[in-house]
Amino acid sequence: MYKDGNLYVAHSSAGSIHLIGKMANRHGLIAGATGTGKTVTLQVLAETLSQAGVPCFMADMKGDLSGISQVGRLSGFIEKRCGEFGIDPAALKFEGCPVRFYDVYGEQGHPMRTTIASMGSMLLARLLELNDTQTGVLTLAFRIAEDEQLPLIDMQDLRLMLDYVAKNSDRYSTMYGNVSAATIGAIQRALLTLSEQGADKFFGEPAFDIFDLLQTENGRGVMNILAADRLMLQPKLYSTFLLWLLTSIFEKMPEMGDMDLPKMVFFFDEAHMLFKDTSKALTDKIEQIVRLIRSKGIGIYFISQSPSDLPEAILGQCGNRIQHALRAFTPKDQTAVKAAAQTFRPNPAFSTEREILELGTGEALVSLLDEKGAPSMVERAKILFPLSQIGAITEEQRKGINNASKIAGKYDTAINRESAAEKIIRQREQALAAEEKEAAEREEAEAKQKVTKQQKPSKKASKSILATVATTAITYFAKTFATQLARNITKKSTTKKKTATRKKR
Ligand SMILES: Nc1ncnc2c1ncn2[C@@H]1O[C@H](COP(=O)(O)OP(=O)(O)OP(=O)(O)O)[C@@H](O)[C@H]1O
Ligand SMILES: [Mg+2]
Repeated sequence: MYKDGNLYVAHSSAGSIHLIGKMANRHGLIAGATGTGKTVTLQVLAETLSQAGVPCFMADMKGDLSGISQVGRLSGFIEKRCGEFGIDPAALKFEGCPVRFYDVYGEQGHPMRTTIASMGSMLLARLLELNDTQTGVLTLAFRIAEDEQLPLIDMQDLRLMLDYVAKNSDRYSTMYGNVSAATIGAIQRALLTLSEQGADKFFGEPAFDIFDLLQTENGRGVMNILAADRLMLQPKLYSTFLLWLLTSIFEKMPEMGDMDLPKMVFFFDEAHMLFKDTSKALTDKIEQIVRLIRSKGIGIYFISQSPSDLPEAILGQCGNRIQHALRAFTPKDQTAVKAAAQTFRPNPAFSTEREILELGTGEALVSLLDEKGAPSMVERAKILFPLSQIGAITEEQRKGINNASKIAGKYDTAINRESAAEKIIRQREQALAAEEKEAAEREEAEAKQKVTKQQKPSKKASKSILATVATTAITYFAKTFATQLARNITKKSTTKKKTATRKKR
C-alpha cells in the first residue's frame, strides 16, 4: 500500500514496515515453504510499487498473479489484519493495477521475441555451454553473416548460416583460421536442444521493444506479467529469456544516480528453476548483470522456497529479505533453516532460527535496507494484504485485457522477412541451377558432336564408296563399250552379206 510517499508492506509489533524507495533497487529475496504466502507477498510489493508509479515485470508460474489486474475484496482474513494493523476496513480502496500479459509461446499474452543477432554470439555461447573453440566458430559465423549481409533473425537462420560456413570453410580458413566440421556439428547439436525447448518461438520478429515494459497508465506503473507455467518446465529457455531481458534492459537504460524510486522492478518466482543445472559460466553472467543493473535503477527480487536455492554470489546481493516459514522435517531441512537464520541481523528479542519454524501464513521475518543501505534488525511481521484480487482470473478476463492492451497487435503476428536462411537457400538454388545449366549445355554439345560424326563419313567409308563408284562406272562403260562393239560388228557383217548378195545377183 502506497501511503504518504511510503511503500508500506508489512506490520510488526513495533509498527508499520516500509520499503525505502531509494533502496528498492538493491534487490531482494522472498523465501518460504510452499503455501506460506510468498506469491501474495510478491503481489503486495508489486502493487505498492505500481501505486507509486513504478512499472514491474513478473514471471507468473501458476497463473495466480493475474489477479493483480482485478479489484480485490474484503475477506475475514483481511478484516482481522485491519484490526491488528489499526486500519479502518471501510477506508480501504480496493483496486486492480494496469496489466499487460506476455507469453513466449504467444498463447496467454503478447508474444515476446528477440532476434539471434541481438542476442549476440557471446550470450548465446554461454547459453549453449560452448567451449572456447566452439565459441570462436560461433562468433565467426556471426561476423561472416554481418560482412555478407545475411541477417540472423531466427534459429533457422543460424542453423543454415553454420552450414554455410562449414561448406565454405576453405574460403574462410585463410582469413579467419580453421573451421572444422566437428565443431560446427557440436554447435548444431547444442542448438537442437534449445530448439526442442521451444526457442524457435522466442527467436523471431517483430522483436520486442524493451521500453514497452517501462510504461505507466494514469500515474500507475504497468504490471507486465509473463505467463511462465510452460516456460518454467524448460529451464534452459527460461534462463535464456531472463538473461536476454536483463541484458537488454541493462544495455539500453542510461546510468542513473540516486533515485527516490526505482525505474523498474523485476520479480522472478520459482527462482530455483533459473539456477537448476545451470553452468558456472551462465551463473557468473547472471550474477554480473544482477550486480551491475542496480546502477540503472532496476531492482530484482527472487522468490524461492529456500535461500540456499540461489547461488551464494546472487544471494549476497539481495539486501531486502522477507523470510516466510520454513519446515524442518529432515536434517537437511534443519541445516537450511540454520543457514537462512544466519543471513539476518539478529534481534535480541527472539531466536531467528526458532521463529522461522513458527511463522503463520502471511507472516514473515523481515529485514529491509535502511536509509544508509544497511540491513535493519530482523522483525517478525505480518505482510499487508493486497488491494487487488488474490488468485487467478478467468480466461475471459484475460482475453479482455489482451484485446484492450495498448500494444495489442504490435507483436501478435510473427513476421518472416528475408533473412540469412532465405538468402542462403536462394544462393544454393542459384548455384544448383547454374550447375544444372552447365551440365545440360555440356550434354547438348556432346550430343551435337555425335550427330556430326555420324553424318560425316569416314575416310575408309569414302574410299569404298569411291571404289564402288569407280567399279560401277567401269562396269557401265565396259558394258556400253561391249554392246556398242557388238552392235558395230553385227552391223558390219550385215553390210558385207548384203554387198555379197548384191554382187551374186
Ligand atoms: N499477506 C496475505 N494477505 C492475505 N492472504 C494471504 C496473505 N499471504 C497468504 N495469504 C493466503 O494464503 C494463501 C497461500 O499464499 P501464497 O499462494 O502466496 O503461498 P505461496 O508461498 O506462494 O505458495 P506456493 O509455494 O504453493 O506457491 C493465499 O491464497 C491467501 O489466501
Ligand atoms: Mg506461490
